[in-house]
Amino acid sequence: MEYPPFKELKISRFGIGTVQFGLEYGINNKTGQVSYSDVLNIFETALENGVNFIDTSRVYGTSEETIGKALREIGAVDDFVICTKLDLSENYHEKTDEAVLDEVKDALRKSMESLGLATIPFYLLHRPEYRTFRDGLIWNYLKEAVSKGTVGHLGVSIAMGPSEAIECFKDPAVEAIQIPYNVFDARWDKAGILAVASERGIAVFNRSSYLKGLLLMEMDEVPEHVTESLCYKESLNRIAAEAGLEVKELVLRYVFSVPEITSTIIGIDSQTQFKENLRIYEKEPLERALIQKIRTAFGEVPEYVLNPFLWDQRLLMWQQQQRRNA
Ligand SMILES: NC(=O)c1ccc[n+]([C@@H]2O[C@H](COP(=O)([O-])OP(=O)(O)OC[C@H]3O[C@@H](n4cnc5c(N)ncnc54)[C@H](OP(=O)(O)O)[C@@H]3O)[C@@H](O)[C@H]2O)c1
Repeated sequence: MEYPPFKELKISRFGIGTVQFGLEYGINNKTGQVSYSDVLNIFETALENGVNFIDTSRVYGTSEETIGKALREIGAVDDFVICTKLDLSENYHEKTDEAVLDEVKDALRKSMESLGLATIPFYLLHRPEYRTFRDGLIWNYLKEAVSKGTVGHLGVSIAMGPSEAIECFKDPAVEAIQIPYNVFDARWDKAGILAVASERGIAVFNRSSYLKGLLLMEMDEVPEHVTESLCYKESLNRIAAEAGLEVKELVLRYVFSVPEITSTIIGIDSQTQFKENLRIYEKEPLERALIQKIRTAFGEVPEYVLNPFLWDQRLLMWQQQQRRNA
């Protein structure tokens, strides 16, 4: 296992996405939430293979509680580096300063209790706009939490695109960003995001390597509201076949070939998927020519294919259209 350098921490290049530990999640989910026994097995297999990075959030259902319970049960709380995130209520911006800060304090305390941690190694804002809200009301509180030692490092989860990351780079308190990054998504390389982060020692965690499962779906199973992805999926299937690789291997090796990424967080529905992804991780980086072929094929994929937040909006529009047609 590789451990790209980041300050005092040892972070595995392969990370565990845990929204599936607390919720039924994914565009292709057929197995539901991960069972507790699978969670225990996944953490034990992770330890055996040097995987120590876990991504979670307070809004992933019971994910934080499950992680805390499982790590205590196997006596491995100190063996993992955990990243969790701050989420506030939808109407937080209508609240008084005092009420907003109460929400932040409450969320941080609950994360620490659920995970069984006195210090949260990485605490990310789940929405970039929290950072600048009311001249840094939330952010200043969290910076104090860093100086008191309840938070190790602060960061921001990027939702929409590179411009949000560029804004974060102006703030020295941002020590980590989480971005969606995969074969279809050329935006980050075009905007030089990875190069800048690496130059400044900012940790980059990537999610969406399988685009929430969409990249692996059968063509005839892709739902109506993301059918614009079909032509790109067709090209992806062709490139994988020409390279003699399975799509899942091609897309994972693609992200593992990027040296500026600190850790790739992959969501898993089972221990079987976890082991399979680990086996792919152990393979060589892709050849330069194949990486170039992928970048040429997917240089201009539209945002409504790349961004699952926009799929939700399109699903709503599609459902409204269906109702009007009925
Ligand atoms: N910061 C944010 O805003 C944010 C948003 C979303 C997620 N996340 C984090 O990122 C993690 C990953 O989520 P993601 O949306 O980026 O998903 P992803 O990693 O792109 O895809 C995960 C999905 O791919 C499928 N999969 C994984 N391994 C597989 C294998 N070996 N064979 C077949 N299918 C496989 C599973 O779906 P099926 O089996 O159901 O097809 C799984 O749910 C989450 O767990 C969470 O920690 C963060």
